[in-house]
Amino acid sequence: MNNCRIGVLTGGGDCAGLNPALKWVTKAALDSRFQATRTVTCGVVGIRDGWKGLIEVEPGTPEEANWLQPLDESVVRTWDRFGGTNLGTSRTNPFDPKKDRSKKVMENIEKLGIDVLIVIGGDDTLGVAHRLAQMGVKVVGVPKTIDNDLSATDYSLGFETAVDVITEEIDRLRTTAGSHKRIFVVETMGRYTGWLSLAGGESSGAYIIIVPECPFSIAKINSLLLDGKKRGLRYEIVVVAEGAKPEGGQEIVQRGGTDAFGHKALGGVGQFLADQIAEGTGLDTRSVTLSHLQRGGAPCAYDRRMGRYFGIAAVDMVVRGEFGRMVSYRNGRITSVDLKEAIGKQHRVDIENDYDVERYNGKRTILGYR
Ligand code: F6P
Repeated sequence: MNNCRIGVLTGGGDCAGLNPALKWVTKAALDSRFQATRTVTCGVVGIRDGWKGLIEVEPGTPEEANWLQPLDESVVRTWDRFGGTNLGTSRTNPFDPKKDRSKKVMENIEKLGIDVLIVIGGDDTLGVAHRLAQMGVKVVGVPKTIDNDLSATDYSLGFETAVDVITEEIDRLRTTAGSHKRIFVVETMGRYTGWLSLAGGESSGAYIIIVPECPFSIAKINSLLLDGKKRGLRYEIVVVAEGAKPEGGQEIVQRGGTDAFGHKALGGVGQFLADQIAEGTGLDTRSVTLSHLQRGGAPCAYDRRMGRYFGIAAVDMVVRGEFGRMVSYRNGRITSVDLKEAIGKQHRVDIENDYDVERYNGKRTILGYR
């Protein structure tokens, strides 16, 4: 029987669903009933702060413990109830062109005796995992991102909890919006894709939903709002994704520069829209940016279950020796895909099929009947 030391890390933006995945990686790996039938005996160690942990750790020194957390069933017993990631995360890129530290990562994996890495992350983190796999590291990926825009899986951890947050916050805004007869513009996350604003807007019954895939016309938004007023609507909710841009314009950037993976920090389109609406319609308008609230809080039931299934599937892949691949949810089933297919391509809202351009909202026919 071979021993297999699994290292597990979470990278990129945190979200709900990471802790359930960590719990079930650990439980599945250490499951005593399976130990009898498997050809490998697993142990699990958590690596703190994503790729940063594998760069900073100094194996064999007392500081090693700052970056590693041995995981067993008693440690992870309650983790699925909690949001964020108990291992910590970072947006560190070992292949950062300004300072490539991938060699250090490779050396540390070797020195720590890590046989397999389970990497829980979005496009950037999984992109690093893919490059390490090409360099010979045994890697299994698990998808997470509240943007839900990875192209090789129908679900990424964190999305449904974030949609719940948007829905709850909009419910809350409705009472104050109604009391004051105001327009509220709610800005959601969603850098390049509009899945969060679309699902959040649909779940909460928003009057207008704006997605990055369909550049918006201010004149049209204002005319829809005035039309609603004419029909007697007391207040209206407009949901806009942070990556949305006006026709012929650019997305709105919160601050200059880019992160280690080259992404701009977006934010501000909600306030921009609110100003344009107030100016163009004379209606009393406010904006609310939900920002990191969407990533916080306890995982919803769906993220607990999906974290569980994804974590277990990742260990199944380790046991079967399926490396260089990512757990994927496709057509209602958990499966796996090559990491190469999982990165670099975004799954975007299909404006023709998923969106109503006339109403700036979700579809009003599902089966295509008019
Ligand atoms: O991870 C994706 C995301 O949630 C985006 O929707 C958002 O633009 C970004 O993270 C914000 O990241 P940060 O945590 O660096 O502010």
